[in-house]
Amino acid sequence: GRMWTDVGELCDEMKGETVLIRGAAQAIRPTSKKIVFLVVRQSMSTVQCILVVTKDVISPQMVRFATSLTKESIVDVEGVISVPDKLITGATQQVEIQVRKLYCINRAVPNLPISIEDASRSETEFKKAEESGEQLVRVGQDTRLNNRGIDLCTPANQAIFRVKSVGVNEFRRFLLLKKFVEIFTPKVIAGSSEGGAEVFKLEYKGKPACLAQSPQLHKQMAICGGFGRVFEVGPVFRAENSYTHRHLCEFVGLDVEMEIKEHYHEVCDIVEELFVAIFNHLNNNCSKELEVINRQYPFQPIKYLPKRLTYDEGVQMLKQEAGVEIEPMGDLNTEAEKKLGKLVSDKYNTDFFILTKFPLRIRPFYTMPCEEIISRAQRIHDPEMLTKHAEQCGIDVKTISTYIDSFRYGAPPHGGFGAGLERVVMLFCGLNNIRKCSLFPRDPQRLTP
Ligand code: 4AD
Repeated sequence: GRMWTDVGELCDEMKGETVLIRGAAQAIRPTSKKIVFLVVRQSMSTVQCILVVTKDVISPQMVRFATSLTKESIVDVEGVISVPDKLITGATQQVEIQVRKLYCINRAVPNLPISIEDASRSETEFKKAEESGEQLVRVGQDTRLNNRGIDLCTPANQAIFRVKSVGVNEFRRFLLLKKFVEIFTPKVIAGSSEGGAEVFKLEYKGKPACLAQSPQLHKQMAICGGFGRVFEVGPVFRAENSYTHRHLCEFVGLDVEMEIKEHYHEVCDIVEELFVAIFNHLNNNCSKELEVINRQYPFQPIKYLPKRLTYDEGVQMLKQEAGVEIEPMGDLNTEAEKKLGKLVSDKYNTDFFILTKFPLRIRPFYTMPCEEIISRAQRIHDPEMLTKHAEQCGIDVKTISTYIDSFRYGAPPHGGFGAGLERVVMLFCGLNNIRKCSLFPRDPQRLTP
């Protein structure tokens, strides 16, 4: 086959070489009947391509053909790399392709729902353009999501989903190294796994069922089943009624469950090491992605030297340093969480902290008294205590009887945690909306595309 070059790899050192690339014609800018500039995009990178009428190489017909291309048509470009004094199109690659051959592989329709150029601009660019009286189109979030297939083509989106992929792979690599086994639990289950009303109900061969709100019960049963340490990456369903920047109805759950040998801090240790490994790995391997995201959505990198605080210390800090009163043994609402995050960031210079010793009554039913962290906990392995808790939490114990029974057959002390992959990416990339981190988001108002 022919030799293909990635647009992102085009660089000065290739000056004079002939290359062949495939990409989308993001912009087509004729400057006369003899010259046309194309901006060709492949994933996160764009390159300026120029066709100039020259005897025996580029005919006027070829320039006309290039000029008549529609935006986003897929093209193959063969040409020679040169280094222009100045790029006129603002492409990411600092070199230019002097086109020799141009093929249109698939033509896009002339009126696209979104222009990728418009959809790739940062707020700063819009403001600058406005000041200079230029008319630019802002692409709103609903328009983007309604046309997600094409919206995904923006370099920032390309970068976000690469970060997500690299991050989840590091999650796997780290846990496998620590002797965890990857498991796959059912997503159609008989009863709710987290309690509460936020479940999608369905009918399963005439019986009531629901979509799993987490792999919680089954990952614990896997521990009872003798696996020692397990993890899962899989879809999680929440029939959330909250239409917010950080809630989805379907997201990717990162779940971990493990035997505890001596102390529940073993779980905290894994949480800290795991997330530090993921963040380090992203910083070391996704610098291009992070730069691309930063160009459209500027952000400050997170500081992730782990810090542990008890719930009481957190409540004290909120009271003394922000004047926020938390009712005795009460949960921290989003606002209080955010305030505490700011206080911890200022005082300990980190955005990564774990709150230990969370009061039991604000945690789900399977949580062991006293040993508690947000989305992380030691579990109850005593079946009678578990039954009592489930009842107190208003759970129909019949629907989870096999779960409770599994603790009668010899169950080691264990604990675990769960995080939403989209939340992790949103936080790490400083994005303002979780929908940006979901390929095809599902929220209370969106079931398509
Ligand atoms: O806090 P949650 O509900 O905890 C559990 O599911 C437990 N079974 C975990 C455990 O092992 N103790 O959800 C876990 C994480 C949250 O911390 C958050 O990152 C994410 O899942 N999450 C959501 N992400 C997006 N949209 C939603 N609606 C989310 N709800 C929770």
